[in-house]
Formats: sequence, structure tokens, C-alpha cells
Amino acid sequence: MKAIQLEQFGIEHLHLRDIPAPIPAGNEVLVRTTAVALEFHDLLVVENRIPFGIQLPHVPVSEGVGIVEEVGAQVTRWKKGDRVLIPFIGRWEAGRNTPYHDQWRTAFSRPGLLSEFTVQPENTLVRTPATLTDAEAAPLPVGGLTVWTILVEQAQIRAGQTILIQGSGGVSLFALQIAKLFGLKVIATTGSKEKEQKLKKLGADEVINYKEFPEWSKEVKRINGGIGVDVTLDVAGTDTIEQSILSVKQHGFVGLIGLMTGTRLSIDLIPLITNYVRLQAYSVGNAEELSDFVQAIEKNHFKPVIDSVYPLDQVQEAFHRFKSGKAFGKVVITF
Ligand SMILES: NC(=O)c1ccc[n+]([C@@H]2O[C@H](COP(=O)([O-])OP(=O)(O)OC[C@H]3O[C@@H](n4cnc5c(N)ncnc54)[C@H](OP(=O)(O)O)[C@@H]3O)[C@@H](O)[C@H]2O)c1
Repeated sequence: MKAIQLEQFGIEHLHLRDIPAPIPAGNEVLVRTTAVALEFHDLLVVENRIPFGIQLPHVPVSEGVGIVEEVGAQVTRWKKGDRVLIPFIGRWEAGRNTPYHDQWRTAFSRPGLLSEFTVQPENTLVRTPATLTDAEAAPLPVGGLTVWTILVEQAQIRAGQTILIQGSGGVSLFALQIAKLFGLKVIATTGSKEKEQKLKKLGADEVINYKEFPEWSKEVKRINGGIGVDVTLDVAGTDTIEQSILSVKQHGFVGLIGLMTGTRLSIDLIPLITNYVRLQAYSVGNAEELSDFVQAIEKNHFKPVIDSVYPLDQVQEAFHRFKSGKAFGKVVITF
């Protein structure tokens, strides 16, 4: 089968190869990959910036969609031709995550999705929303699911609340759209003048440029009537978490899902305690939660924001676009 295989680290080493296709076991499904979306950790893998290391050769990219090609003898839920979302944690069907589920992480402990075919367990595949194309649905299993789970299941957002979203990356745009779906007021930050207007067009009620206001928590409170927001979603880690904590009101929720600027901290913990802040870190979600998100997408005409779509033979261009920081929405590769 065709696959993009990394034999040395670096975007320039992403090359098309012919490798053996996987064979499904009795309870597994062979899925023909049709579209994938790039995640920040995929770039870290390609550039060898993952702390635990990746064995080469490696097929990268962790989220995508496809069409069922063949099913194992015991498979009952799927048939050839079904459109499916491919899970990141392939054993996490419901409930909380466990170390056992975690042993199956697409593009980490398992081959990634830049290949014509992938084998997946039948019970964590989720049907693709009928209202979306495969390119539109490709960013749902990691970026979309993470935001859905932390906001809807963990923060339990509800109409009338205010949320602060940070930057205009793929994850934060999902947060903006999901928050609007639930009737929240959205304050967005960005470091880009050009993206300020785009965020407003997508529904942000207020936009703060974090480069003009390095202590943006003060600006958040100023435009929110002197009090903090109910919820914020931190995507950058080291450089942002203190401002995130200072941005929420008493009993506010700080979701930590990204570490774009680093993993180490030296911050004042007093506001966490005096403001009863709930700090919750999270990683993706399970198949049941992804199914709930699919229903919400179908009933509300929800469309993920796609920046650009590249064919498989332009994989390097796709990674360069993602790395440039200029994208507004997800960078997708189609087969
Ligand atoms: N926990 C999970 O399961 C999970 C799932 C998906 C993603 N993530 C993580 O979430 C993070 C974001 O992912 P993504 O896909 O949204 O990445 P992305 O699309 O590459 O987002 C990049 C954007 O982040 C913003 N940004 C960068 N530095 C910032 C800073 N100091 N303060 C505020 N915003 C900043 C910038 O927005 P502007 O250009 O507007 O300034 C930039 O365009 C990554 O660390 C990723 O690994 C975690």
C-alpha cells in the first residue's frame, strides 16, 4: 500500500513509499484512509521533539477518517463502505482512560494514518457525521473530541457563561464554535492582527491581542465587567497558564490541553486557592463522547474550520503550512 514513511526525522524526509498493508484480526476492521488532519504533536513527532522518542521507520499522523474496506470474522458493527472516524486511543470505548487503553495510540505506539489502509478495533470506530465531507470530518477524532470533552463533559459549559479561548489554532477554533453552540459569550486572544477579524467573523464577541496586552488577564476582566470568565482553555502551557489562572472568576475552570510554549512552571499558586480555581488537564476523550459530538454536529449544521486541503503527494507542503502559524483552521491531507 502507499504510505508516507519517515526514515529520518524532518519534514523534508516525509516520502511516499510502498509498504505491506495490515491484515485485520477477528474483531478488527480494515479502513481505507481518505483524509487526515495535522495536529501539533504530529509536527513534534516528525521533527523528533517528542520526549519519549519514536522508532523509525514510522508512519506519522494521528487523526483522520476513512471507509471500511474489510471486516474481521467476528465484527458485527461495521460493513464494507461505512464511513468512519478513526480513534486516537483505539481501546478507549467509554468511561475513564486507563494505562491499558493508552497502549494503543495511533501514530505513537501504533502506525499513523498517512497510509492507504489502517487496522482498528471495531468498538472504538465512530460513524462519520452525514453532514460533513471526509476532509471536514478529519479533525474530529483528536482536536474536535478533546475540546468537546473538556468543555462539555469536564467544564460542563452552559448558556450565559463566558469563555476565554487562546490563539486561533485548530483547537481554539473548535472551542469557539462549540462555545457558541452552547450559548456562551466568547472572548478570544490572538497574536495576529489579521486573525482578529477572522475570529470576530466566526463569532467571537471580543478579541484581545496578547502581544499588545502581555498581561491579558487584566484586559479580560476589564471587558468582562471587572470579573473573570467562567472557563478558559489553555493551549500554550508555560507562557500562558498563569494568565489563564488569573483570567477566571472564583470557582472558575481552567482546562489545560496544550503545551505549545513549554512544560515547566514557576508561578504564584495563591490565586488558585483564594479563587477556588479548578485546574483540569485533559487528553482527547472516548468513543462514546465522540459519538455524542457527531450527533451535535449533525443536528446543528456544525462545520469545522478548514484552512487548506493538500493531496498526499504534497505532504511536505501541508506540514510547512501547519508549521508557519499562518493557517486559520485545520490543515488537511486527502488521499
Ligand atoms: N490534550 C489533547 O488531547 C490535545 C489535543 C489536540 C491538541 N492539543 C494541543 O493543543 C495545542 C494547540 O493545538 P492546535 O492544534 O490548536 O495548534 P495550532 O493549530 O498549531 O495552533 C497554533 C496557534 O496557537 C496560538 N498560540 C501560539 N502561542 C501562543 C501563546 N503564547 N498564547 C496564545 N496563543 C498562542 C497561535 O494563535 P494566533 O496565531 O492567533 O496568535 C497559533 O496560531 C498544542 O499544544 C497541541 O499539542 C492537545
